[in-house]
Amino acid sequence: MTTRRILVTSALPYANGSIHLGHLVEYIQTDIWVRFQKMRGHEIYYVCADDTHGTPIMLRAEKEGITPEALIARVHDEHYEDFTGFHIHFDNYYSTHSDETRHYSEDIYHKLKVAGLIRVRAIEQLYDPQKNMFLPDRFVKGECPKCSAKDQYGDSCEVCGAAYAPTELKNPYSAVSGATPVKKSSEHYFFSLSDQRCVDFLRRWTRAGHLQPEAANKMHEWLGDAGENKLSDWDISRDAPYFGFEIPDAPGKYFYVWLDAPIGYMGSFKHLCARENLDFDTYWRKDTETELYHFIGKDILYFHALFWPAMLEHSGYRTPTRIFAHGFLTVNGEKMSKSRGTFITAASYLKQGLNPEWLRYYYAAKLNGTMEDIDLNLDDFIVRVNSDLVGKFINIASRCAGFITKRFNGKLVDGDSYQTMQQLINERFANWRPGALEKAYEDRDYSQAVRQIMKFSDEANEIIHELAPWEIAKNTDRNAELQRVCSLGIQLFYLLARYLKPILPETIRQVEGFLNCQPLTWPRLVENEPVSQLLLPPGHVINAYQHLMTRIDSKLIDALVEANKQNLSADQAGAAKTNANSQQKTIAPIAETISIDDFSKIDLRVARIVNAEHVEGANKLLKLTLDIGSGQRTVFAGIKSAYSPEQLKGRLTVMVANLAPRKMKFGLSEGMVLAAGSGGSELFILSPDSGAQPGMRIK
Ligand code: 2FM
Ligand code: ZN
Repeated sequence: MTTRRILVTSALPYANGSIHLGHLVEYIQTDIWVRFQKMRGHEIYYVCADDTHGTPIMLRAEKEGITPEALIARVHDEHYEDFTGFHIHFDNYYSTHSDETRHYSEDIYHKLKVAGLIRVRAIEQLYDPQKNMFLPDRFVKGECPKCSAKDQYGDSCEVCGAAYAPTELKNPYSAVSGATPVKKSSEHYFFSLSDQRCVDFLRRWTRAGHLQPEAANKMHEWLGDAGENKLSDWDISRDAPYFGFEIPDAPGKYFYVWLDAPIGYMGSFKHLCARENLDFDTYWRKDTETELYHFIGKDILYFHALFWPAMLEHSGYRTPTRIFAHGFLTVNGEKMSKSRGTFITAASYLKQGLNPEWLRYYYAAKLNGTMEDIDLNLDDFIVRVNSDLVGKFINIASRCAGFITKRFNGKLVDGDSYQTMQQLINERFANWRPGALEKAYEDRDYSQAVRQIMKFSDEANEIIHELAPWEIAKNTDRNAELQRVCSLGIQLFYLLARYLKPILPETIRQVEGFLNCQPLTWPRLVENEPVSQLLLPPGHVINAYQHLMTRIDSKLIDALVEANKQNLSADQAGAAKTNANSQQKTIAPIAETISIDDFSKIDLRVARIVNAEHVEGANKLLKLTLDIGSGQRTVFAGIKSAYSPEQLKGRLTVMVANLAPRKMKFGLSEGMVLAAGSGGSELFILSPDSGAQPGMRIK
């Protein structure tokens, strides 16, 4: 197999807002594709960055009383944390406010100018005479010219849906200062997209297989028929005050978004090149054979399919290999809504303790590589994840692993028994075609990939059901058979783990630990060779099975929706009058500052709850037995209102290990477990990340 060299990007998120579940469709879609290609052994880099420039960012920083640089640094960290939380792995996550992006913006601008593709002309816009600035459409408000609804934005009406120019609003006012805007003219710089060279190039390029068929059709509509010229020149400048890059030969003028945002792809990659010692030109020179893919939402197709390739082509760079556009996300069949609590932020999802891989799986099950919208139906989400991932996939391991560990010291079959097992697998999976699964991943048709993988899981479960190891186990004379049947289950689980790894990277990392195998890759198979060529070797020894994934409890989803409703009320409260009660409920004031020495006096340890039981006569307490590595502790914890003993047994938590023992009515309590929340059912005990062991000190 030849190794492909590939550069992949996702759209750069604006630095003026939080990452939400709508954004994640794209990043998860891209990340799955990149992980698949990495498993295949290709040389592939995935870069992204925050899109940091513009008036909204400048104004928001001003409102917060900080510099735009401080604002974008903070948001960068937040975004990066959100992405990492969802296991989205960038080879570089950078910022458009960088020397590299500035360099390529200026370079492309100069080359377009030399080519005669930059023009200057005066345009009239609304100006805030109090704030001394031109107002972007979203910063002008007034009455809708069609239906007279009040407080509508300068570009469209949220009541009747009409689209218009900000100058058409009745009784307009500046959303920045409240002043009445005036019309004012200034010189703007334009990229001549309507130039015949651009039009001719785009006619060819948009038909040359770089776009999805439905995107290519849309572009033909926008381009018009041969002889027609429907494209307009694109305004690439904004006047000061603006947060961005000043145009080198035009003081007081700044590059507007599309002349630095996509160039941020190049800037981020250039930054990676310095770190990884890669050759930038190998990826970006005109005649390169490297592949370049942009994953985007369909809302920015115009820029990526017309403006961006035309800019690259006429400034001497390579153009994209393919543009992959996806549709929008709806939740429960409707647009995400703050009042319904379905405008769900990435951070809130993680904070509620939901497993990011549940969402990765659900999105994968819905994505098919077209521009169709996808729906996150919250009920279906629960059913699908619980039945597919826990009920079908994880179930295979949990049904077979215990016998292998307890009866055979973790050893899978070898010798003749291995061959018998192999034969059975080959017979039962004679129609299985990994090539079709690979094609589904390659085409971003993950819903098709998931269907095939679940079909495989169904068959695996069916075999285990038929062979019923739990029945065989009752008879010690049938030990060899038991080992063979359970080994077969584990081998099928091993095959499935490879297939699911692009979607569930963290679970499969744990599976690799459990199966005691090398990180799974995806070698190319000889077509039509039996599936068994990729099994674990005869006599392979696995580790003890640890629980890999829990089911989604619908209460978690209810709490998530509730938490996102609360976000809105907290925002509104902040914007209008402060609602003391709701504020108090969500955020308690931060306690007095302590030194690091004060903190280090508290000895926090990872503890396993080996037993949990009710305490006779106690309304609030549960008696916990905690293993902290060096021994066991008894702790009485006031968490009965939120947990049953069954929910706690076996899980890891965090305890204060050096708290003076306290004599209570029911016995001696030797420490304290940590929990957050206001009480009642709103109590959440802490859990360390997977991999932590009892006794580890928390620092
Ligand atoms: O539409 C957006 O989200 C912009 N921040 C641009 C992203 S794409 C790219 F070109 F930066
Ligand atoms: Zn209206």
